[in-house]
Amino acid sequence: MYPLFEVPLVGGPILIALIAVFHILPCHLATGAFWITYFIERKAYNENRPDLLEFLKKYTLFILIFCFVTGSITGVGIWFASSVTAPRAISGLIHNYVWGWATEWVFFIIEIVTIYIYYYTFEKISPKAHMRIGLIYAMAAWTSMVIITGILAFMMTPGKWPVTGGFFDGFFNQTYWPQLLTRTALMFVIGGIFGLVVAPFVTNSSARETVTKTAAKWVVGGAVFTALFATWYFYRIPQSARELIISGYPYLKLMGFVAIGSLALVTLFALVWALPKPLSLNPIASIVMVIVLFAGIGGFESIREIVRRPYLIPDYMYSNQIIGHDMPAKGVKAESELINKEGFLKYAKFVPQGLREINEKNFMDAGRIISKYQCMSCHTFSPDGRLSIQKLLNSAGMSAPEDVADLLDSLGDYPYMPPFMGTEVEKRATAAYLAKLASPDAEVDPKWVVNGE
Ligand code: HEC
Repeated sequence: MYPLFEVPLVGGPILIALIAVFHILPCHLATGAFWITYFIERKAYNENRPDLLEFLKKYTLFILIFCFVTGSITGVGIWFASSVTAPRAISGLIHNYVWGWATEWVFFIIEIVTIYIYYYTFEKISPKAHMRIGLIYAMAAWTSMVIITGILAFMMTPGKWPVTGGFFDGFFNQTYWPQLLTRTALMFVIGGIFGLVVAPFVTNSSARETVTKTAAKWVVGGAVFTALFATWYFYRIPQSARELIISGYPYLKLMGFVAIGSLALVTLFALVWALPKPLSLNPIASIVMVIVLFAGIGGFESIREIVRRPYLIPDYMYSNQIIGHDMPAKGVKAESELINKEGFLKYAKFVPQGLREINEKNFMDAGRIISKYQCMSCHTFSPDGRLSIQKLLNSAGMSAPEDVADLLDSLGDYPYMPPFMGTEVEKRATAAYLAKLASPDAEVDPKWVVNGE
C-alpha cells in the first residue's frame, strides 16, 4: 500500500475521469480526422478542385495545435492523476502491458512526424506523395487506437488473463472488438464535428459548402455505426453489470440518457442544419456540439467504468487496490486472506506511528486510516461530497457502531463494493469511526471496540 492521496468533494476517480474524458476528444480527433482529410484531398485532386485545399490546411493546423497540445497535456495528466490515486493498479498495468505502451508510442511518434511533414509540404510535393503521407498518418494513428483499446478493455474485462496471465489473453478479451469498433465509429463523429467547427472559416463558398456537407455526412455515418457497435458492446459486458445498468440505478440511467441523447443531438444537428444549409452554419453552434459530445462521452465512459466494480482489475485487484484473488500464473497470492488474519494495519506499509496495534486510545485514528484506505476509492468523507459516506450512513439509518459493524460484515454482498478486510478489532474500530463521522453524538464504548463486548 502506498500513501493516500485524497481529493476533496469529488474524489480521485472523478479527477481521473474528467481528464480522461477530455483526453478522448483530442485523441479520437487525432485518429479519425485524417481519414476525412484523405477523402477530401482525393476529391480535390480527382475532381480538380484546388479550392478544397484551404479547408485541409486549416483543419490540419487545428488538429496539429489542438490534439498535440491538449492531447499530450491530458495524456500525461491521466498518468499523473492515476499514479497518485491508484499507484498499485498502474503498477499492475505496467507490469503486464509495458510492451503494449512501447508499441503504441512507436506509432505515436510516426503520427507526430507525419503530421508535421504533411502540413509543411502542402502544394510543395506531388499530390500523390502528399496523400500518401496523410494515409500513413491515418493508419499510424488508428493503429495506436488498436493497441491502446486492448489495454483499456483489459481493465474492464480481463478475459482469461486472471487464469493464464498471458498478454494476449487479457488483450483480446470479449469486449475488445466491440469497443474497438465503437471507438473507430466514434472517431469519425468527433472528426466530423471538429470539421464543422473549422468549415465555416473557409472563404471560398463552394468549397465551404462541399466540406461542410462532407463533414456532416461523416458525423451521421459515424453516429449510426457508433450506436450499432455500442449496442453490441453492451451485450458483451458481464451480465451482472448489464443488470445493474438496466435495473434502474438512477446515476447509471442518467448517464445512459446523456450518452444516447448527445449522440442523437449531434446527429440531428448534422442532419437538419449542416447538411441542408451548409453555408449558414455557425461555428459557435458546432462548438456547442463539441461540448454536447464531451458530455455524451462522459456518460458513455461512466457506464463503462461500472463494468469493473468492485475491482480495478476484475478478479484480481479490488477498487481499494487490495489484491483479492490468488493468481498462480504470476505467483501472486491474494492479500485479502492475510489481511483478515493478521490485520490491515500490520499489512499496510504507510501507517502513522503507533496505529498498528489498536487500543482504547488510538482506535478512532486507526478506524479513520482503515476506512480511508478501503472506502475512499469510491466514497468521499465530506458531507457534501460525491457518494458521501456520512450521507449514505445517515440515509441507511446507521448511527450505532454495532449497526455499522454489521454493515461492514455485509459489504461484500453488494455487487459494487469489495468486502471489508481486516480483523474483528479493526472492523469495530472502523465502525466506531464511521458511526461518529455520520452522527457526532453516537455512543462509542472503547471496551466494545477492543474486546468486542
Ligand atoms: C468500488 C467502490 C466502492 C467501495 C470501495 C466502497 N463502496 Fe460503499 N458504495 C458504493 C456504491 C456505488 C454505493 C451505492 C451508492 C448509492 O446508492 O448511491 C455504495 C453504498 C454504500 C452505503 C449505503 C448502503 C445502503 O444500503 O444504502 C454505505 C453505508 C457504504 N457504501 C459504505 C462503504 C464503506 C464503509 C466502505 C469501505 C469499507 C465502502 N462503502 C466501500 C461503492 C463503493
